[in-house]
Amino acid sequence: MNLSIQLAPQNKHGLLLTNPVMTASGTFGYGMETEDSHLFDIQRLGAIVCKGTTLEPREGNPQPRLAETASGVLNSIGLQNRGVQALITEKAPIWASWRVPVIVNIAGETIDDYAQLAGKLEGVDGISGLEVNISCPNIKAGGGAFGANPKSAAAVTAAVKTATSLPVLVKLSPNTSDIAEVATAVAEAGADAISLINSLKGIAIDISRRRPLLGSITGGLSGPAIKPVALYMVYEVVGAVDLPVIGCGGITTASDALEFIMAGASAIQVGSASFTNPRAPLDVLEGIEQFMEKEGIKDITELIGAARI
Ligand code: DHB
Repeated sequence: MNLSIQLAPQNKHGLLLTNPVMTASGTFGYGMETEDSHLFDIQRLGAIVCKGTTLEPREGNPQPRLAETASGVLNSIGLQNRGVQALITEKAPIWASWRVPVIVNIAGETIDDYAQLAGKLEGVDGISGLEVNISCPNIKAGGGAFGANPKSAAAVTAAVKTATSLPVLVKLSPNTSDIAEVATAVAEAGADAISLINSLKGIAIDISRRRPLLGSITGGLSGPAIKPVALYMVYEVVGAVDLPVIGCGGITTASDALEFIMAGASAIQVGSASFTNPRAPLDVLEGIEQFMEKEGIKDITELIGAARI
């Protein structure tokens, strides 16, 4: 059986995955936490996407930052991370010895932040691609605001493409009026692939205090609750652009992943599911393999877009 997928056919380095199962940014740390605990062999995954990285270290948003919802979770982490320099000196050298490709998710408050981040990561061993986060719902300036309209989304994409030769994935926000238009603009600006969706903006109220539950009032909703929305948006974007699309949003099982693949996604990301089952990405991969065996499918590409009408 062949499960391999090329996510950046246009790019000089390419981004070849041995299978379509990736981890979603912010739900799998830097890959090392899971590896250390020997939960499973992370090298079997298609790719790992690390937590959003910014130019400078960030402490993140005030607590509380998490609220459970019906079939989902609302978070407002606020891009807590140790900054790009720590990532280059401490994480990348470890990634360089891995078989699984690591993609660095980058986030900024200005277009220049994104360009600088891409420039600093150019040529760093152990990094196979960038995922441009124009969809973080939890920071005051920049972040998700860039993903809300086609012009600013394209401007960030073009700036990153100029600053790097690495494959560039752009992660779209569902918090926009027409995601297909944003995807088209990002494709025209030179993105190698598009990932979607990031979390949906939401609020929870603590009725005993009569106040918003989260320290930063709003958060991003993820988990099974958002899967039909994500599938719809993937379906729309696949119909609008001629680039590989990576589906994300509420994928917990192999059948969830197969729905995205049949909707046209070339790869998928497992996110919140890792919080309740750290082995979820591998369970999804093994379930896809079992499905292919049972159905006599020899190549995963036979399934991509199979449900499209
Ligand atoms: C954060 C960033 C995201 O892109 C997201 O979807 C949710 C949370 C954050 O760090 O706050």
